[in-house]
Amino acid sequence: MIKPDAVERGLVGNILSDISDSGFKIKALKLTKLSIEEAKTFYSIHSERPFFDELTKYMSRSPIVAAVLEKSNAVLEFRNLIGDTDPATAKKGTIRNKYAISKGENSVHGSDSDENALIEAKFHFSGREILL
Ligand code: RTP
Ligand code: MG
Repeated sequence: MIKPDAVERGLVGNILSDISDSGFKIKALKLTKLSIEEAKTFYSIHSERPFFDELTKYMSRSPIVAAVLEKSNAVLEFRNLIGDTDPATAKKGTIRNKYAISKGENSVHGSDSDENALIEAKFHFSGREILL
């Protein structure tokens, strides 16, 4: 996902360009907006964390871009491309280093496992929206 802070600042093109330049193929793509309930469902793994309320308000305040991406070893490769959660410690040249505002408003989301990537792809897209 390209998160609200990045969509608000007009960074969709820059971020998609970085993703393509890093060898990812786009298999599905859409601009959409999460309701507060959808944000709570998407990030339910963090429901007990102190930042959950802030996170779900932020993720539902304005549009996001959802994408399904393909590359070999995609989960790890994408996390390398986006960098640490906190832009202060994200490696130079990573998407979060270049664009994120803070640890909370960090511009992009990446799935943390193949299993969760499938769950998250199905959360955002119907089968016919994902090109095989
Ligand atoms: P993501 O799931 O969004 O790709 O981020 P991540 O794996 O790098 O980080 P994670 O620990 O899963 O946290 C999910 C998102 O919650 C927000 N967060 N805020 N204020 C804070 O201390 C804090 N910690 C995490 C961030 O938006 C983070 O990406
Ligand atoms: Mg995560």
